[in-house]
Amino acid sequence: MTQPAGATSSLAAGGRRPRRLVVGITGATGSIYAVRLLQVLRDVPDVETHLVVSPSGVLNIKHELDIGRQEVHALADKVYGIRDVGAALASGGFATDGMIILPCSMRTLAAVAQGLSDNLITRAADVMLKERRRLLLMVRETPFNLAHLRNMTAVTEMGGIIFPPLPAFYHRPRSIDEMVDHTVARVLGLFDIHVPGPEWLGTQET
Ligand SMILES: Cc1cc2nc3c(=O)[nH]c(=O)nc-3n(C[C@H](O)[C@H](O)[C@H](O)COP(=O)(O)O)c2cc1C
Repeated sequence: MTQPAGATSSLAAGGRRPRRLVVGITGATGSIYAVRLLQVLRDVPDVETHLVVSPSGVLNIKHELDIGRQEVHALADKVYGIRDVGAALASGGFATDGMIILPCSMRTLAAVAQGLSDNLITRAADVMLKERRRLLLMVRETPFNLAHLRNMTAVTEMGGIIFPPLPAFYHRPRSIDEMVDHTVARVLGLFDIHVPGPEWLGTQET
């Protein structure tokens, strides 16, 4: 049965601590989305990023962007090791306001869909689902096989959001950066984090 996505925490709404956003980076292509999201969030007050990167995520960031692990870590407020299942993020007792896995590989999707909790990214995602917090998976693969589709359905049924990075063209992007920024803004909007960017005002306004 489909359940509603988790609401943001009332503690954060009360303004007593920054909003805590967990970010997981895995080994699908599209690491530019993760790096851009972390860069954008540095300019957003009251958002604290908690980052975990899988080994394949590190590999892809290096391959696609020629950026090293330390440079990516420097963009986050707190960084955790992928095997550190004793970290705060591994428990529902650590209050957070949601999690974004981007890009999300089919391996990590499968682990989340089946509740495997086999590393800190999938365990943190498991916590989001069990605590009814918001979880977004920027899944990236093409074409999809039936296992991928079933796993996406399972995550959706548990309340997670499946958000493949499909570019829009209605805002007439002039570069890859503009396409990426538009997608990142849409993702953050789902966490009630609003960043500057083109807003859709209808066909009459373009
Ligand atoms: C250059 C490169 C691109 C990849 N792109 C994808 C992809 O788009 N989607 C995917 O599911 N896996 C992709 N993979 C494979 C994953 O990295 C691999 O399945 C890995 O085990 C995922 O582990 P993780 O989920 O723990 O990061 C890619 C691997 C490489 C080296």
